[in-house]
Amino acid sequence: MTGELTVGLLGAGVIAGVHAHAYRACPGVRLVGVADPVPGKAGRIAGPHGAAVVADLEALLALGVDVVDVCTPPATHADAVVAALAAGRHVLCEKPVTRTLDEARRVLAAAQTAPGLLSIGQVARYAPDHRAARDVVASGGIGAVRLVTHSSTSAMPGWSEAGWLADPTSSGGPLVDQGVHAFDYVRWVVGSPAVRVHCVAADSGVGPATYALATVRYADGAIAHVECSWAHPASRGFTLRAELVGTTGRLSWANDQMMAGVLHRREGDTEWWDALGDREFTAELGAFFDAVRAGGPPPVPAVEAVESLRTALAALESARTGRTVDLTTWEVR
Ligand SMILES: NC(=O)c1ccc[n+]([C@@H]2O[C@H](COP(=O)([O-])OP(=O)(O)OC[C@H]3O[C@@H](n4cnc5c(N)ncnc54)[C@H](O)[C@@H]3O)[C@@H](O)[C@H]2O)c1
Repeated sequence: MTGELTVGLLGAGVIAGVHAHAYRACPGVRLVGVADPVPGKAGRIAGPHGAAVVADLEALLALGVDVVDVCTPPATHADAVVAALAAGRHVLCEKPVTRTLDEARRVLAAAQTAPGLLSIGQVARYAPDHRAARDVVASGGIGAVRLVTHSSTSAMPGWSEAGWLADPTSSGGPLVDQGVHAFDYVRWVVGSPAVRVHCVAADSGVGPATYALATVRYADGAIAHVECSWAHPASRGFTLRAELVGTTGRLSWANDQMMAGVLHRREGDTEWWDALGDREFTAELGAFFDAVRAGGPPPVPAVEAVESLRTALAALESARTGRTVDLTTWEVR
């Protein structure tokens, strides 16, 4: 497929705004429609792009878009992805692929027979530090990966529409919403499936299991320690630490705060200032549009994102029951 690609954006919240900004850096891509049920939100994103504000997915499809970009809360992903694929469109869907594994199975079945491409927004694979580290591993720079530690901690994100992030039923809490990035990244770097997960978690004033520590064993013997939390002080920002230890070397990086800078006003709160914030999203979306033009394969196949979701849900289950989950046999709905 050559020429211009037209995109319809489903959802007009925080991540939709980031995607819309990143389209501008993707040559030959045009945002033509935005849908969101909350009055005014779609217009704020559509306006600067000259895109139409429409009511829903059906109306986006009626615009004839080549691509549907699903940026809605996870519990809505399956219906949207299945419908857009059934209409013959290419689909980029934000992480986590779905909220539940039942929904994930519907998405996988739809992707198998659809003519369009489906890729999932596991953006950690495109974060410059994460990607560079993975390149070092892939070129044999630290030998076989044996131990990974990955920590991502922040305050409860305050922006979600009607508070869906704060509702564990809607978001799965930090182990799913945030942890799925780490589980996906580590699995990608190790190159071997997760086979066992154990997790302990503590509650906080912002919700259950909002401090969490998970250990994962992979089929090739590698192990990982994944920490995530939404209960850290907001003034600390979003903090990330990672370490990859292999048979011949060790690689680590840390962002004391993930944002590029800090804005101090004479009056009022300190604000994290994210001047480079869309750099991984530009790479992620660019890779997706390139794959659409090339006729595949999807940069992050749904089956891989489902595996990452399953690991996150197993960690949640382990935290709830106190038992280790054997992923080789675990059945969950
Ligand atoms: N990759 C990342 O780093 C990252 C960061 C933030 C969010 N996300 C993911 O992006 C998705 C959206 O998160 P967000 O932070 O933008 O949430 P948000 O609450 O800011 O925005 C979601 C928007 O979707 C709209 N919406 C809900 N149902 C809809 C429907 N059926 N049709 C059209 N619009 C609908 C809501 O009104 C809201 O405006 C989630 O899956 C989240 O996990 C990913």
